[in-house]
Amino acid sequence: MKEYFDANRRRWDEAVGIHVKSTTGAYRLDDFRAGEDILLPIESAEVGDLAGKRLLHLQCHFGLDTLSLARRGAIVTGLDFSPKAIDAARALSRETGVPGTFVLGNVYDAPSLIDGQFDVVYTTWGTTVWLPDITRWAEIVAHFLKPGGYLYKLDGHPAALALEEGKDGRLTPTYPCSQSDTPLIFDDDTTYTGDPDKLEKTRTYEWIHSLSTIVNGLIGAGLTLDFLNEHDRLAWKLFPCMQDAGEHMLRLPPDLPSFPLAYSLKASKP
Ligand SMILES: C[S@@+](CC[C@H](N)C(=O)[O-])C[C@H]1O[C@@H](n2cnc3c(N)ncnc32)[C@H](O)[C@@H]1O
Repeated sequence: MKEYFDANRRRWDEAVGIHVKSTTGAYRLDDFRAGEDILLPIESAEVGDLAGKRLLHLQCHFGLDTLSLARRGAIVTGLDFSPKAIDAARALSRETGVPGTFVLGNVYDAPSLIDGQFDVVYTTWGTTVWLPDITRWAEIVAHFLKPGGYLYKLDGHPAALALEEGKDGRLTPTYPCSQSDTPLIFDDDTTYTGDPDKLEKTRTYEWIHSLSTIVNGLIGAGLTLDFLNEHDRLAWKLFPCMQDAGEHMLRLPPDLPSFPLAYSLKASKP
């Protein structure tokens, strides 16, 4: 597993350098620096009142969402395994004066890196595919939640992640849900922001987990499902045919039937 994590981390280190430049506006750093709330409409509506809550943001990238959650009153800790991402998150916190604690480490090592429990564990947009073992991930989430605390999770829908758009524009089931020891292997020399900068580290190892694996993993870890929602829009251009849906989201063209592109859930620790 180490070789997969190492390759993915090297790739993320490189991508951070492109993302913090924010040339395409996919990461709304200027808006954040100007004091705006840059959370997208789905998580804004669903995450709940965060005032005074201790919040752990897993796979926080360079802290843009983490610090936006802090602006909503949460006392935030972000964790990510990319040193470049954590350096950038700390720099953004210093620059803007929005407080946050940022911890470098793999999600699977988090219990030995972060003390205490949290009111909210938060993880959104592009996190699950980097995790080989959802059962262990769910146990880690449960470990960090106080009784009465909750997980908020929002990500690409596995049914959508399994599709690929062909040259004829058709969306075809292509990628299977993967087991931990057999990741899906992708090679891509650009990142999802649409920035033309080329990446040297092109290879990633990823896992698509079915919705039932995720929900049953959380139930198995002792959490109770409060809601499970599906959404016809996404935060990034998963397929070339996707179109602007407004409010910084993308969706399928109107001639295609509505299809779930994202899902969100809240799960509480009794
Ligand atoms: C798409 S980004 C996070 C999404 C976040 N909402 C954003 O866009 O700002 C995915 C993050 O997961 C991190 N990551 C991937 N695998 C990880 C792991 N096993 N442990 C910790 N962080 C990981 C990467 O370094 C990257 O920063």
